[in-house]
Amino acid sequence: MDTKSLINIDDININELSMLIKVAQRLKAKDFDYNELLKHRIMASLFFEPSTRTYFSFVSAMYRLGGTVLGFPQAAATSIAKGESIEDTVRMMAAYADLLVIRHPEIGICKQLAKLVEIPIINAGEGTGEHPTQTLTDLFTIYEHFQNYKITIALYGDLKYGRTNHSLLLAGARLGINFICIAPEELQMPEEYIKKAKQLGAKVKFTSTINDYIKEIDVLYVTRLQKERFPAHMNYERFKHSFAVGSVLAQQLKANSIIMHPLPRVNEIEEAVDYDSRAKYFLQAANAVPMRMAIILFCFPHLWGQVLEN
Ligand code: NCD
Repeated sequence: MDTKSLINIDDININELSMLIKVAQRLKAKDFDYNELLKHRIMASLFFEPSTRTYFSFVSAMYRLGGTVLGFPQAAATSIAKGESIEDTVRMMAAYADLLVIRHPEIGICKQLAKLVEIPIINAGEGTGEHPTQTLTDLFTIYEHFQNYKITIALYGDLKYGRTNHSLLLAGARLGINFICIAPEELQMPEEYIKKAKQLGAKVKFTSTINDYIKEIDVLYVTRLQKERFPAHMNYERFKHSFAVGSVLAQQLKANSIIMHPLPRVNEIEEAVDYDSRAKYFLQAANAVPMRMAIILFCFPHLWGQVLEN
């Protein structure tokens, strides 16, 4: 059977990206009958790192398409704990399911695993690398608000270890979005992503102080410090208060700007900001379901074809 995996954000072209957003919009509007499209299909969710939104929004997406789900939210409950390799685990799961959704700390693992199995693999977050399905959800939420990509996104947070920033920069650059990377030097965007984004023609600026460019920001994309990924020599306490979005800062943002966060937030955004109509992070989390439904359909080209014709 013809299938497609989604491992890096570059695996999809701009046309596919805009189709995914269109389909997600239609799924959200319940514009067509999708309840049985994935009937009798099984998704296996293999999560080797903690997750709330990604795990459960994929599960919800699969159920809403009429499919079923098996898998684990942490590897401790599986034979991995007995020393089984991820390769063997994935080979087995491929016999039990039609689609694998994998989150793992090692960059490049999904690509390696995809060589072992014939069913599609979706990367649900790979260590400090990429998180392509989050980016599609983010772009969906951005498009819903602005109806175009003629915008400037400020990436404000841990740009070094935060994978959502990496995929968003790469996809955004292809869409003509400009970026401002706001972080202390030690947590700035890694060179490899900057290089790629610039090659794609994106304008990328860098600063450690948000006030420098506050009036240019259309999307303030906040992320938490990836404390668990910090090497031993980096002192978390030193950076703990580097990012803070409160009402005073929100007031300075443009009236038509939006505030996003892939969540979980730790203490980067004050609760008071939740009541600002420009705060879109809970909407962003909810949009993950229709977008991940679209992504699952995309992995099965014959179904995707049907949906596009519909
Ligand atoms: C993010 C992740 O796992 O990279 N969460 C998510 O999937 N929504 C962000 C994070 O953990 O900081």
